[in-house]
Amino acid sequence: MTNEFRKDFPIFSGDGNRVIYFDNAATTQRPRQVMEAMRDFNDTCNANPLRGLYGWSIQATDAYEQARHKAAQLVHAGSDSEIIFTRNTTESLNLAAYSYGLTHVKEGDEIVLSVTEHHSNILPWQMVAKQTGAKLVYLEPQPDGTLTEEEIRSKITDRAAIVTIGHVSNVLGTTNPVKRIAETAHAHGAVCIVDGAQSTPHIPVNVQEIGCDFFAFSGHKLCGPMGIGVLYGRAELLDAMPPFLTGGEMIEYVDRDSATYAEVPAKFEAGTVNAMGAVGLGAAIDYINQVGFERIVGHEKQLTSRLLSGLERIPEVTVYGSKDPADHCGIVSFNVKDCHPHDVASVLDTEKICIRAGHHCAQPLMDYLMQKCDMPIRATCRASLYFYNTEEEVDRFVEAVSHVREWLGYNK
Ligand code: ALA
Repeated sequence: MTNEFRKDFPIFSGDGNRVIYFDNAATTQRPRQVMEAMRDFNDTCNANPLRGLYGWSIQATDAYEQARHKAAQLVHAGSDSEIIFTRNTTESLNLAAYSYGLTHVKEGDEIVLSVTEHHSNILPWQMVAKQTGAKLVYLEPQPDGTLTEEEIRSKITDRAAIVTIGHVSNVLGTTNPVKRIAETAHAHGAVCIVDGAQSTPHIPVNVQEIGCDFFAFSGHKLCGPMGIGVLYGRAELLDAMPPFLTGGEMIEYVDRDSATYAEVPAKFEAGTVNAMGAVGLGAAIDYINQVGFERIVGHEKQLTSRLLSGLERIPEVTVYGSKDPADHCGIVSFNVKDCHPHDVASVLDTEKICIRAGHHCAQPLMDYLMQKCDMPIRATCRASLYFYNTEEEVDRFVEAVSHVREWLGYNK
């Protein structure tokens, strides 16, 4: 199994090279360059950044801030201070909800989101709606997962205070027209928040071109470590927002009864930060840039095309979402007739194939697919690809899926 990048990933050496890892939408593998950067931080300058006045702490601070610069460049933020480090996309969206949502949304306002959202971009807004008396308004996609202009125009109105949207669906792989949604939100005086967890690793992102006000993503889905994520926010919004968490290093002055806060981004990074994680994320960004988005997009489209046509040849398989491989961002959700997705995933595991099966933290979308696409069960199997996957893996995967019913004891 060859692919010029696989040699960089220790997990694919030896027996690992036989494992077909198609769960990249859940988390990606890490190249040795990322581990080396983290080890280097550990071995040469591990100290608490932003506090110490001695060499190691200053070096740790520099390494942390360099990572912030790389994250800013990755999404084309206007300045490094528009990048807040969090634990993950979930925490980024919660920061936006608690700090911006609770202070700006009023009773009777609307928070517009899509039924295709991951729970991470639903639950924080349910909380804001409950606490403020706002209403949640859902954009309903077409059966293939795409949003029409009419749906966008009819649901985003002057009542909207926040429009929050996944850039790419973690179940269908559909890319939402985020630029158009941001424009519409702004035309009605609302802010636009984009959940970029599934887009940032796969396609070039430019937050200024999108025109969104907030943009969230995770490190571990783009070859970085777990436990480090990013919230991009427009400077003037971040400046005016109250802190999300309070405590060490996010203050200017504290007396017994009150405190003044540090400038952004420190205001939003209370407590000891995950500097080694940030360094790992910085190295992952360097690595991804070296691979290049043009290659990532092209390779994933080629593999997705092969995967879709392979699955199409199996009569008992139903694929959800668009028929066009370019609309999948490497994500393909499907079901095998009569088989529970958990059974399919367990059987595939015996062939050393890793996929995710279940509701994918998108239960409203599961309900929607049952209604609109006759999906028989509130769950799917999901194969999700990355640049280090190969055509041979896709072929072995399709071959294995074609035997699943037989292996589970069904006659054809
Ligand atoms: N959000 C990740 C997924 O879709 C965990 O699998």
